[in-house]
Amino acid sequence: MALHRLTSITLGVPDLAASAAFFNDFGLVGGSGGADESRWATRDGGEQVELVEAPHRQLQRLGIGAEDSDDLAQIGARAEQAAAEIVESSAERLALVEPATGLLVEVSVAPAYAAGPSTHTFNRPGLEPERIDVPAKSVLTDQPVRPSNLTHVVYSSPDQPTTLTFFTDVLGLEISDQIPGVIAFARCGEVHHNVAIQAGPVAFPHHIAFEVDDVDDVVRGGQHMVDVDPNRNMWGVGRHAIGSNWFWYLREPGGTFVEYTADIDRISSQDLYRPKDWQGHEFLYSFGPPPPPEFLEPADLAELIAAS
Ligand SMILES: [Fe+2]
Repeated sequence: MALHRLTSITLGVPDLAASAAFFNDFGLVGGSGGADESRWATRDGGEQVELVEAPHRQLQRLGIGAEDSDDLAQIGARAEQAAAEIVESSAERLALVEPATGLLVEVSVAPAYAAGPSTHTFNRPGLEPERIDVPAKSVLTDQPVRPSNLTHVVYSSPDQPTTLTFFTDVLGLEISDQIPGVIAFARCGEVHHNVAIQAGPVAFPHHIAFEVDDVDDVVRGGQHMVDVDPNRNMWGVGRHAIGSNWFWYLREPGGTFVEYTADIDRISSQDLYRPKDWQGHEFLYSFGPPPPPEFLEPADLAELIAAS
């Protein structure tokens, strides 16, 4: 697949300082050694979140990484064929406008993540111990969780089929799983989903997710966030069925949910992927606490509709 990962996003927030404090606690690193509250870096992906002041929360830009400039040329040709608006086209960068919501999608040539392997160890019955004579690293450390990368964005669109078609037919993402007309999980590499498009009354970022090393970091990170401010808690800890990923969702001050996630499925080929026939609650999760109603209908939805 020509595309291979998300690169970065621009997120509009009504209170930049408050959202900056959230992402600092979440484990991202502020730009310019912490002096720049508008740019936030992950451990392995560099500056992946740009915050800008906006009247209400908005996904203003979504960046996707391509392997080389030939990939950009092919996407550009498909965009022309589909009469999609092209804002900029060069050998290194292609900027398009998603037709249903106006979202700016920027495709650029980007390297793969250079993530080192986790140093966490696990002991399981029937297998050689990975750790012996010492406690687990995650109970010994007092260092904050540092998310590896921005791994997915779930975006609500009032015209879900049009937005989804743009991501699949123009950009070339593949659908891993979907509940037709409700939500589609699409990927631009091996990770089960990098972009999910859900049907909603208005365009807004439902949540953004950061991949951490393992479930230890999901729980440790989430617990730290709610220890600092219990009002941040949204939903978790649990495990999704679609994608299999562990999750703990927090609420950032602008209203967007922000997820620690780990152990998401990898897909080598859509032909080889064998998902279950998802039923009932599995659409949302396999186990963990039930989702709060606000996860499905965010508290600021009426405000977002009024502002659209
Ligand atoms: Fe998610």
